[in-house]
Amino acid sequence: MSDAIEQTNAEQTETHLTAVVARASGIAREGGATLREFFASGVETEYKGDVDLVTVADRTVEKLIRSRLSEAFPEHGIYGEEGTRERLDAEYRWYVDPLDGTTNFAHGFPQFCVSMGLEHRPAGTAAIEDGALVAAVIYDPMRDELYTAERGGGAWLNGRRIKVSAIPVLAESLIATGFPSRRRHANPNVHFYHEFTLRSHGVRRAGSAALDLAYVAAGRMEAFWEFNLNPWDTAAGILLVTEAGGKVTSFTGDGYKLDSAEILASNGLIHEELLGMFEAMFAGRGLEPIPTPEAYAAERAARTKGAQG
Ligand code: IPD
Ligand code: CA
Ligand code: CA
Repeated sequence: MSDAIEQTNAEQTETHLTAVVARASGIAREGGATLREFFASGVETEYKGDVDLVTVADRTVEKLIRSRLSEAFPEHGIYGEEGTRERLDAEYRWYVDPLDGTTNFAHGFPQFCVSMGLEHRPAGTAAIEDGALVAAVIYDPMRDELYTAERGGGAWLNGRRIKVSAIPVLAESLIATGFPSRRRHANPNVHFYHEFTLRSHGVRRAGSAALDLAYVAAGRMEAFWEFNLNPWDTAAGILLVTEAGGKVTSFTGDGYKLDSAEILASNGLIHEELLGMFEAMFAGRGLEPIPTPEAYAAERAARTKGAQG
């Protein structure tokens, strides 16, 4: 293929994705507006598992997004948390979480969002292989914050470019995690939570993995990790973080796969430090002692001096 034709193809893909993100943003906003209405009027909670909640809002908004996406992109597949499985052999596939943060929503705690991530699966992509994530939309209806990204086009919040933070060490970082609502007793995360809390400015457990990832992309937090998420929780957030200059891997540093059981996302600068802690903890090795207040102050002073040259 000549350079000129390749360039034109690249430009067409870019224009196509920009239009896709714009259309999907409208759909996410509509879904978010419906969530806001349900949130204001209150909803009854049903149980999918012992503490795995679902509400009429989750189902209504998934149905709405499914129908809007099908109108807008009749050739795209859709894989949604509340059961949508449409055209899964298509070249493009949406991962949709109509309400990420259901537990918060059900309790009236205003931290939740709509999350939609688009994967490109060219013909020949094996069922177990991931395609590339190419478009992302996360909408927080309570703050009217719309996070968007398209592959190669950066990450944006309400139309302003966002970037991951420049904080270089865990000790000065604010990070986030979450805990599953299924098989909680089998989840080891509380041990990681304990260690990371004592070695950072703090660990937030705000209850929406998609927003946690969006916050890493926006530089509001330095990292996020969690066990046992699903592609509808992570697809959009992963693209946002990488397009904002951050890094996303497994806990061993391998490239992230959509069906990975674990995710570690960061500003990139503290990634190695976090991976080192995961390695030590999984191996059952002791970690470095938590610095005393004096040692912490001395380290920080040395870093500040180093940064000033
Ligand atoms: C949950 C949220 C939460 C995370 C859970 C997810 P849902 O999604 O993202 O932050 O800790 O693991 O299941 O059920 O509210 O869509
Ligand atoms: Ca979710
Ligand atoms: Ca959900």
